[in-house]
Amino acid sequence: MSDRRAFVAGNWKMNSDRAGAVALAEGVADLAKNEAWHCEVGIAPAFVHLDAVGRALRAKNSLVRLGAQDMYPGGNGAFTGEVSAAMLKDLGVDFVLVGHSERRHVIGEGEDVIAGKVRGVLDAGLTCVLCVGEKLDEREVGKTDAVNERQLRSALAGVSAGEAERVVIAYEPVWAIGTGKVASPADAQEAHAAVRGVLADIFDAGTAAGIRIQYGGSMKPGNAVELLAQGDIDGGLIGGAALEAESFAGICRGAE
Ligand code: PGA
Repeated sequence: MSDRRAFVAGNWKMNSDRAGAVALAEGVADLAKNEAWHCEVGIAPAFVHLDAVGRALRAKNSLVRLGAQDMYPGGNGAFTGEVSAAMLKDLGVDFVLVGHSERRHVIGEGEDVIAGKVRGVLDAGLTCVLCVGEKLDEREVGKTDAVNERQLRSALAGVSAGEAERVVIAYEPVWAIGTGKVASPADAQEAHAAVRGVLADIFDAGTAAGIRIQYGGSMKPGNAVELLAQGDIDGGLIGGAALEAESFAGICRGAE
């Protein structure tokens, strides 16, 4: 057993209006306080809701961490439409998702862009939740581990072992995201163990043993306990099931 504390984070994606985001954050904060879950908890609303959600969490003295779904790696300046680390920190953000499959495969971010964002997040002193994962056609030809390895190596090149303390990996098989299809606990564990092996090679075994690896892809209260019981699954990155406080809580309760 390791002493990695599970980290369960809600990725709210492009959902909700401001009032709905605040109500959801308040619901999560109340449940987290009343139930004392055995995991760290985070929520990542859309940029435009970060300020209101951050205020709601602070008003409740909540330990729920505030995250952003993306970030521009450079400092403030002439980058129309982008959002900087300084802006996020000003709102109380402490973790940032990088390389989510929707940014890789829908928005079209390449591995160089993702590596730059990892660098920018770490340079800003924030925690980076780096998402990796294979597409269905890649899984079907047995390339899961190779895809994860390629994405890890390119995104983490130049990251030091010390900085890796602020890195969380989210293994999210693309075919499982938002589809209701979930990796079996055994398949997920196998992929997570392989990811940890790559991290040991990039850094060292001790550093790799301390890095949290979340599972993401249709995690729900009904499948979370079994997934989170796997030795190398250290939490979850939750999309659909994070959009309702009670179902998100049902996942957090499953973390020991
Ligand atoms: P899902 O999304 O839980 O809806 O599958 C997970 C994610 O995209 O992070």
